[in-house]
Amino acid sequence: MGLCPGGWLADARHDLERQVRGMPVTTDGDRITATAHETLSWQVRLVDDLLGATPATLPDLFALADPIYAAASQPGQRAVIIDRLVQKTYGNALAALWSNYGIQPIWLPVRGGERSKSLTTYNRLATQLVKLRLDRRSQPLFLVGGGSVGDVGAFVAATLGRYTPAVRIPTTLLAMADAGIAAKNGVNHAGKKNAFGTYDPASLVLACLAFCASESKRRISNGLAEIAKAALMESSALWSLLADHGAALRKTRMQHPVARDVLLRAIQIMLAELSDNRREPRLTRSMDGGHWITPTCELLDLSVWHGEWVAIDLALCVVLALRRTLLDADVAQHILDVLGRTLRLPLWHPLLADDDVLAHACDATTRHRGGRLRLPLLVGVGEKSFYDDVTVSEARGASAALRHMAARLGARAALRPGPLWAGAYWGVA
Ligand SMILES: NC(=O)c1ccc[n+]([C@@H]2O[C@H](COP(=O)([O-])OP(=O)(O)OC[C@H]3O[C@@H](n4cnc5c(N)ncnc54)[C@H](O)[C@@H]3O)[C@@H](O)[C@H]2O)c1
Repeated sequence: MGLCPGGWLADARHDLERQVRGMPVTTDGDRITATAHETLSWQVRLVDDLLGATPATLPDLFALADPIYAAASQPGQRAVIIDRLVQKTYGNALAALWSNYGIQPIWLPVRGGERSKSLTTYNRLATQLVKLRLDRRSQPLFLVGGGSVGDVGAFVAATLGRYTPAVRIPTTLLAMADAGIAAKNGVNHAGKKNAFGTYDPASLVLACLAFCASESKRRISNGLAEIAKAALMESSALWSLLADHGAALRKTRMQHPVARDVLLRAIQIMLAELSDNRREPRLTRSMDGGHWITPTCELLDLSVWHGEWVAIDLALCVVLALRRTLLDADVAQHILDVLGRTLRLPLWHPLLADDDVLAHACDATTRHRGGRLRLPLLVGVGEKSFYDDVTVSEARGASAALRHMAARLGARAALRPGPLWAGAYWGVA
C-alpha cells in the first residue's frame, strides 16, 4: 500500500467501499457520501375471518415480509397496545387467536380517541415497554384499535430501541382504509396535530371488516369519508361503488357483499400513493384531499370526528372548484349529495364562517407543504389539479355558498359546534 494520495488513499477508499457492501460510499473532496440502498416494504392483508384463523388455515398469519424480522412469527410473549374498548369487546377472542399461534399477550390498554394521541400516553407506554425488555427482532409490538391508538402506538414502536416492528390490527373502518395502513404515525402537542411522529409504516397490517360490525353507523360514515376522499381524488370506479352502495355499506356496517372490494380499492389507492412518497419528497399529494382545513379545525371541535372534518373539507373544495368552473354544477351537486345524503356525512360547520380559522388553515397548510398551498381541487370525479392561489376571501365565499347547499341537503349536513377543547385552542376569536 503506497503513502502518496494516489496510492494509499485510493487503496483505503477502495477497502472502505468493499467493507460497506450494499451501502456505497463516495468521496468527493471534503464530502464523504453514504447512500443507503435498503428497500422498505410493508404489507396489508385483508383477512375475512381474522378471529377464526388457525395455523392450519393461515400458517403464516403473523410472518413479517422483511427478512430482518424472520424470527417475528415465533411463539412467545408480545406487548399488545390496545384500545380499552376493543379489549373489552374482542380481548378474549384475540387471546384465543394468539394462543393458537403460541403467542401470549401482555396487554397495554389505551383509551381510544384523540386525547390519547399525546406525549403523556407515549411516555406511559414507553416506560411500560422498557420494563418488559422485549427482543426488538423477534417480538414485534401488536397495535390494536382505531387511528388514535394506532398512531400513538406506531410512534412508540418506531422509536422503541430506535425501531421495533409492529403488527397493526385496525379495528375502525377509518383505520383500515387510511390511518392503519399509512406510513405516518404521531401524537398531538401544544395544540398542533401530529406535532411529533415518524414516517414508519407497520410491517404488517391485518385488516378484517368483521370488526366494523361493532362500530356505530356514524363511525362507519366517518371511515367512508376517507374512502370517499381516495375515490374522488383517484378513482371514479370506487366513487361509483360508494354512490351505488354507500347507504347499504353504512346500514350493514360494512357487512355487505361489496364491502371487501370497496376496502381493497381504497387500500390500493393509498399504498400506490405512499409507495413512492413515503417521506413525502413529493408535496403534491392526492391523499391531501380533505386535509386543508381539517388539521386546524379538528382540535378545535373534537365532537366532530376526523373523517367528518375530511368530508366538510372535501365539500368546501368541491364548492371552490365549482366557483372556479373547474367542476360542472351537476357533478358538484352529485358529489355533495353522495357525501351528505348517501354517506350521511356533515358538509358544513360554523368554524368555516370564521375568517381567522380559514386564514390559519391556509397559513398552516402552506407552511406544511413547503411554502405553497398545493390544494387539490377536483376537475372531475377521480381527477384533480393542484392550486396555490386560493385566498381567504375566496374560501369565505365558498364557505357561505356551501352553508346554503348543505342546509338544503338536510339535518346532518350542517353541524352545530361542540365544546371547544381548551388544550388545543390556539386563539381563534
Ligand atoms: N397516520 C395517518 O396517516 C392517519 C390517517 C388518517 C387518520 N389518522 C388519525 O386517526 C385518528 C382517528 O382514528 P379513528 O377514527 O379510528 O378514531 P379512534 O381511534 O379514536 O377510535 C374512535 C372510537 O372508536 C372506538 N373503537 C375502535 N374500534 C372499535 C370497534 N371495532 N367497534 C366499536 N368501537 C370501536 C374507540 O374506542 C374510540 O372510542 C385521528 O387522530 C386521525 O388524525 C391518522
